[in-house]
Amino acid sequence: MCGANISNNRNFYQKLPKPALVLAPLEQVTDAAFRYIINKYGKPHVIYTEFTSADGLCSPGLERLIPDLRYTEAERPIVAQIFGRRPETMRHAASICRKLGFDGVDINMGCPEKNVCKTGAGAGMINNPALAKECIAAVKEGAGDLPVSVKTRIGFTDITMEEWVEHLLETDLQVITLHLRTRKEMSKVPAHWDKVHHVVEQFKGTETLLYGNGDVESLQQANQLAEETGVDGIMCGRAIFGNPWFFNPDVCREELTVTERLHVMLEHAYVFEHFFADTRKHFLVMRSHFHAYVSGMPKAKEMRIKLTLCSSADEAHEAVKEYLETPFVFNPPPLHDSVNLDELRQIFA
Ligand SMILES: Cc1cc2nc3c(=O)[nH]c(=O)nc-3n(C[C@H](O)[C@H](O)[C@H](O)COP(=O)(O)O)c2cc1C
Repeated sequence: MCGANISNNRNFYQKLPKPALVLAPLEQVTDAAFRYIINKYGKPHVIYTEFTSADGLCSPGLERLIPDLRYTEAERPIVAQIFGRRPETMRHAASICRKLGFDGVDINMGCPEKNVCKTGAGAGMINNPALAKECIAAVKEGAGDLPVSVKTRIGFTDITMEEWVEHLLETDLQVITLHLRTRKEMSKVPAHWDKVHHVVEQFKGTETLLYGNGDVESLQQANQLAEETGVDGIMCGRAIFGNPWFFNPDVCREELTVTERLHVMLEHAYVFEHFFADTRKHFLVMRSHFHAYVSGMPKAKEMRIKLTLCSSADEAHEAVKEYLETPFVFNPPPLHDSVNLDELRQIFA
């Protein structure tokens, strides 16, 4: 794992295949452990971290948040996602991401959570394009020569994507990712893939790439949607639950044996402990992964009941031992470089 190496992967977005296949940020899901596993079993073209609060990074809480920004060198290109509403902290947070060696910085302008939106951050930015532009300018300053992108939605209450995208395009971003729902729609309606063509034309003649996001369930569907709509990339999130092979064109999860799938589930659990032993991150987050991994297997219900009680990788190993045809052996990956917190604190001191 790394933390302080400087990337030499500048402007990588322009060199990616089309469509670029991108791992979405998923808070409490795509942490460094799961990203390590995804990267090993089905590498996407780009990986995004879970979102991290810019205000938090510029506070005494920095130390607690840094584990959320851990990554392994093999994950490159890897983009740090931040959220906030204060240009000053957004600038500092972007500098911290640069210092940590990320390949890009993404600004979350799509989070629908009430407590985020009411401060004007996340999807709240859609209602305040002037502030959004200030924050983008600030992040660009802090990110230096790293590419800056925005992930957002197609409107707050109503679909207003043409006006919103027009504002964003003025800021000369590397990528705009559109989660094809409004903030009001949360995740309750199907993503509006039928509407994305309204904005595809607006990107023509600009340097900014357009990625689409929402409800993509397979690589085949991703490629088909890109072909039909003309977007430059497709970002996939929930389809990765229990399926770290999602981005691997040569593997179909359903064709793997129960033992192969359980071995990867256990590896994920041990990597989680290995990477986060020195943090306050709780093993409980692994339980929802366990449920996703065993879903669709024979005896899934029986396994789920046992796994729900597990509080460590060893306990999970014990719980599924009887379903394994070959024993599981864990080979720990290298640990992360230590981060110089004092150096990072200097950025916002
Ligand atoms: C559990 C969960 C956590 C999420 N966390 C983030 C996040 O940190 N940042 C972000 O931009 N979007 C986040 N999202 C939204 C996803 O990135 C994505 O836009 C959404 O799930 C739709 O894509 P999908 O249908 O491929 O999952 C989250 C979604 C879920 C379900």
